[in-house]
Amino acid sequence: MRNGDRKPVIVVCRGAEYLGDGICANLGVKACPTTVVKFDSNENLLVTIDKSVRGDDVFVISPSCPPVHERLFELMMTIDALKSASAARVTAVLPYFPYARSDKKDQPRISITARLVADMLVTAGVDRILTMDLHSPQVAGFFPRNIPVDVLKAVRLICEFWRKRDLDNTVLVAGDAGEAKEIGPYASRLNLKFAIVDKRRPGGNDDKPKAVNIVEDRDAPINGRRCIIVDDEVSSGGTLIEAANFLMERGAASVSATCVHPVLGGNAIPRLTESIIDELVVCGSLPTAEKSSAMPKLTVIQDPVTRLIGDAIGRIHRDESVSELFL
Ligand code: R5P
Repeated sequence: MRNGDRKPVIVVCRGAEYLGDGICANLGVKACPTTVVKFDSNENLLVTIDKSVRGDDVFVISPSCPPVHERLFELMMTIDALKSASAARVTAVLPYFPYARSDKKDQPRISITARLVADMLVTAGVDRILTMDLHSPQVAGFFPRNIPVDVLKAVRLICEFWRKRDLDNTVLVAGDAGEAKEIGPYASRLNLKFAIVDKRRPGGNDDKPKAVNIVEDRDAPINGRRCIIVDDEVSSGGTLIEAANFLMERGAASVSATCVHPVLGGNAIPRLTESIIDELVVCGSLPTAEKSSAMPKLTVIQDPVTRLIGDAIGRIHRDESVSELFL
């Protein structure tokens, strides 16, 4: 889509101001005015786009944080309203893809809900998706080929953060086998060896993972080393805490952690605060303001993430390569 001098139009859904304000500033635009009403009587929403978007290239930023289902429905209604208002193209910007962990049928009679979310977005009329670090890369394939999915990667930003620290005698640790496929780029950017924790969920769907084994690099064993656990998201904190305890029992000198998506739900903040993890570094793909003030050992990489998403929007709008942002 060639846009001439027309600027992208940014719609910031409720709760996405932590990204929307910076993205608009980065792109030199004002957020498109919208109104969202929630009716007390039946909890229905009413979304209104408060200016003409006819022929515009529109990006809708949605936060995917609680209340998750209301946010999701607001996003669907916003896309639907924009398409009805003759927007030329609508891109859903979902830094954290809702239900991304529900990406397979690993139990009988369950919904592959990430695919359902994709189907709903398509039905609402979305033209493109911009997201970041999917739990499983194949979720991008839940969209038909006429709906491109750009998946940003936080690895460069996270490694820029850690490179400023003293990384002597440090080893990276994949929090589970799923992360084992993702940790390589972290290790090569930081020039560190890595280990992999073998995590199981013996209780099925509960949030009590169990670390049962570890695969170590013979040149960089855990014993006596500082460990940085790497994971795509921290939700209840159970995976990180279990892995940290497991590493300390095996002689680790200390344990820090770094994750892309700070879901940090339920009692994750007090649990992580009390845990032996000395620092948790996350990206600002989800809102963290209240969480940061409640948890001094939480560090949020916010401005670089906001810039990355803003840059990606600018490049998509101008039909330029997005993958160059990963270098
Ligand atoms: C799971 O496969 C993911 O990579 C994370 O390890 C998981 O989502 C973390 O969840 P929690 O913090 O609830 O253990």
